[in-house]
Amino acid sequence: MRRRPDSDPTRFATLVLLCIVLVSCTIVYAFYTIALGPSDTNAPEDDVGRDVGGGGGRGGCCKGIEGLELWGAAVKWGTDFKFNRPEECCEACRKMCEGDGGPCLCDSWVFCGDRRGCGSKFGECWLKKQKDPLAPDRHDGGPTVSWTSGLIFGRGQGVIGLETEYGIMHIKLFPECAPRSVAYILELLTLRHCAGCQFFRAEGRGRFWDAKGNHLKNEPFGPPYALLQGTPEVQGGAFEKIPSEFCLDIRRGSIAWIGSGPEFFISLANHEEWRNQYTVFGMVLQEYMGITEKIVGLPTNFDVWNNVNVSVLEKPAPFALRRVDKSSA
Ligand SMILES: *[C@@H]1O[C@H](CO)[C@@H](O)[C@H](O)[C@H]1NC(C)=O
Repeated sequence: MRRRPDSDPTRFATLVLLCIVLVSCTIVYAFYTIALGPSDTNAPEDDVGRDVGGGGGRGGCCKGIEGLELWGAAVKWGTDFKFNRPEECCEACRKMCEGDGGPCLCDSWVFCGDRRGCGSKFGECWLKKQKDPLAPDRHDGGPTVSWTSGLIFGRGQGVIGLETEYGIMHIKLFPECAPRSVAYILELLTLRHCAGCQFFRAEGRGRFWDAKGNHLKNEPFGPPYALLQGTPEVQGGAFEKIPSEFCLDIRRGSIAWIGSGPEFFISLANHEEWRNQYTVFGMVLQEYMGITEKIVGLPTNFDVWNNVNVSVLEKPAPFALRRVDKSSA
C-alpha cells in the first residue's frame, strides 16, 4: 500500500523497508497457510461486522488517551472503585455494555493513573455516560492532566456515515482500539465542510480474494490490492500525525490509516499479511460494503507509484463524514 507519491527523500528507504517487511510477512503467511490450512483465521461474517468493537477478547484492545479528562454523568463513582492500570478501568466499562444487547450503560471511563499527580485519587476509575457519545464532554486536556480517558461504543453506538454519490456507508468506530484515531475522526465530524475529502485509488479483489475477502490459495497478494484509498485532506490547520495504534487485523471492511494518516483505505479483503502494519480505527458494516464495491468498480487508469502498480480513479469520488440516524444504524 502506498501513499500518493511525493518528493520526500526518506520515502525510498521506507519503501525498501516496507518491501522487506512485506516479503517476510508473505513468507511467514505462506508458511502458515500451507501448514495450517486456509480456514483457521476466518472469523464468522457476523463477528467481522458490528460486534468487533463491542466484543471482548480482542487481546489488549482497551485503551484510552493519557492527559485527558472527560466529563459526563457518573454511572459508577471512582472514589471507591479503584484499579492499578487504565486497561482494567476500560474493561470495567466494556463489561457494563455486554449482555442482553440493550443500550450501553457506560460509554466512557476516566482513570487517574499518574501516582504523583493523583495523590489519594490514584487508581480511581469513574465510569460515565455521555449525553452525546460522538461529541464527548471534554473537561480538561494536556500534559499536566493526571487522568486517562477513553470511550466504549456498544452495539448501535459510535456509527457514523461516510456519504458518497453512491450511498452512505455506515462505519462503526473502535475507540478502545485506536483512541487517538477516533478522536480525530470525531473532530472531523464536527466540521461543516469536507472540501478535499475524496477517494482516488480503487483496486478490486482480482482473482486473489473471494467475495467474502478470503485469500485464495497460491495466489499473490496483489496488485490489485483490494482496497479503496482516499483522504479527508481537511484545509486549514496543520495535520498532526496520528500515532500508530496497532491492535486489530485488517478484515474485509476495515478502515485504516496509511502510515500516520490522513490518507486511509477501506479494505475489500482480509489482509492477514498486513498484520501490525496499519492502524485500524473502524469498519464499514457489512451491509454497506456494496457501496464500497461500487466505487471500486468505477473506471480507473493505470499508474505506477514508487514502483507499485496502482489503479487510480478516472474521476476522484468525493465523500463527506456525517452523523446518521441511530435507528438506521
Ligand atoms: C506492473 O505493470 C507492468 C505493466 O503492465 C507489468 O509488466 C508488471 O508485471 C506489473 N507488475 C506487477 C507486480 O504486477
